[in-house]
Amino acid sequence: MERKTNGFLAKVFRMKSPEELIDNANKHGLKKTLNAWDLIILGVGAVIGTGIFTVSGAAIAGNAASGPSFMLALIIAGLACIFSAFCYAEFASMIPVAGSAYTYTFAIFGQCAAWLMGWILMLEYAIGNIAVAIALTGYWFEFLKGFEEYLPNWVVNKDIWIHNITIFGNVPLLINIPSMLVIAFITFLLYRGISESTKVSAIMVAIKLGVIAIFIFGGFFHVDPNNWHPFMPSGFNLAGWNSVFQAAFLIFFAYVGFDAVSTAAEETKNPQRDMPIGILGTLIICMLVYVAVGAVLTGMFPFNELLGNQAFIDAPIAYSLRSIGKSFCAMLVSVGAIAGLFSVLLVLQLGTTRILFAMARDNLLPDVFAKVHPKLQTPYIITIVVGIFTIFGTLFLDLEASANLCNIGTFMAFIVVSIGVIILRYNEPNRKRTFKIPFMPWIPILGILCSLFIIYKGIPWETFVQFAVWTALGLIIYFAYSYKNANLDLDEKAALEEAASQKEILEIKK
Ligand code: ALA
Repeated sequence: MERKTNGFLAKVFRMKSPEELIDNANKHGLKKTLNAWDLIILGVGAVIGTGIFTVSGAAIAGNAASGPSFMLALIIAGLACIFSAFCYAEFASMIPVAGSAYTYTFAIFGQCAAWLMGWILMLEYAIGNIAVAIALTGYWFEFLKGFEEYLPNWVVNKDIWIHNITIFGNVPLLINIPSMLVIAFITFLLYRGISESTKVSAIMVAIKLGVIAIFIFGGFFHVDPNNWHPFMPSGFNLAGWNSVFQAAFLIFFAYVGFDAVSTAAEETKNPQRDMPIGILGTLIICMLVYVAVGAVLTGMFPFNELLGNQAFIDAPIAYSLRSIGKSFCAMLVSVGAIAGLFSVLLVLQLGTTRILFAMARDNLLPDVFAKVHPKLQTPYIITIVVGIFTIFGTLFLDLEASANLCNIGTFMAFIVVSIGVIILRYNEPNRKRTFKIPFMPWIPILGILCSLFIIYKGIPWETFVQFAVWTALGLIIYFAYSYKNANLDLDEKAALEEAASQKEILEIKK
């Protein structure tokens, strides 16, 4: 009985050393094609999207009513990410294999925690992807508005492309054909290969940054510094710091995705040098862009004009440009937003496949998911499965629910990675680290405290319930499938086979 308990705990807490993880990755690895610039493009591609193009409106002038202090909210949310980014950078330079927080958790906390982390990361990547795919449809029809006169009705008519229906009596379904098509297209690109995908991503990143630059420079001349006073105005329900933290929670979504860079570690030529540059570079660029956008957005109009203004809340950048008399601006912003969201989708879906690929390689998921295409060298089966799952998910989830779930999944990953980096530094102080977090352990501790505080201030209780259900489901699947099939069992099987063949050899010799 006791032996059984020990065996159970040994399996659940079974760890993989960083060497084991790297060796395994080298044996069944992916093609190494990425450099630091590719990683930054991947990162900026994953990060700038729905958050700055839409959520910023709600943070400035919706219930959070942060007004000019939105700039401070952007910095607070960004700082929480930067503290965690240091931890991701130290890990990614030390264990450069696919899987990100999932892989790091395996090295520190063992198999069961790693499985749960992989499962929770699906909230960030796959569910986040669904949120962005839904948001993209809105911009697509906004873009088509500019061409209504020239295009046939079936192209521009939303009702032909989006259907709300109910099944089994009262289960609502949203059939959003443009979302499904764009996910199918992204699945095709990822199936073809990551370097092609990053080329497409680079074009998208250039377009979205171009549109944002037009907004910043165009709007800059319409900024009146008087509009930044008072800096922390009173809003509908909130005021002062409460308002700032509520806005920081909301706008955290705008930073989600930077850690996707670490999921591509295994496909990076020189991960020890390029991973820290890729991760921190992405965040710093995004934070600067966001604060500049925030300054222009809040400086162009008096706060009283913005507070509760639905047109501004729905599309703040488009609204601001339209208000200064640019006739084609709405279309231009829609192009930037579509490009922005497209690249977010691309990288989040890439992250989803790479995490599941790493889990399958560890036998926590069926072997078939770890298959690499012989010619394209991509994990093609898991890529197709993720594509189908995401298309399916768009039928059931709305934007807000999926964004909230995505936020809590991301925060949990941040917290676990920050704890992990401290533990590994003290357990293995002499391990080679090409990137070392300065001021240990204060930066990870600040990352954990910031994340907990923002969760405490902002996450709705429904999201906690959904998160608890998702975690419980993950545990059930772990014990029903993964626990039985994980590497340890296979190692034991291999050892038994080896022993049997030795016995056969001895018998033959006799
Ligand atoms: N950060 C990503 C976005 O804002 C998820 O769309």
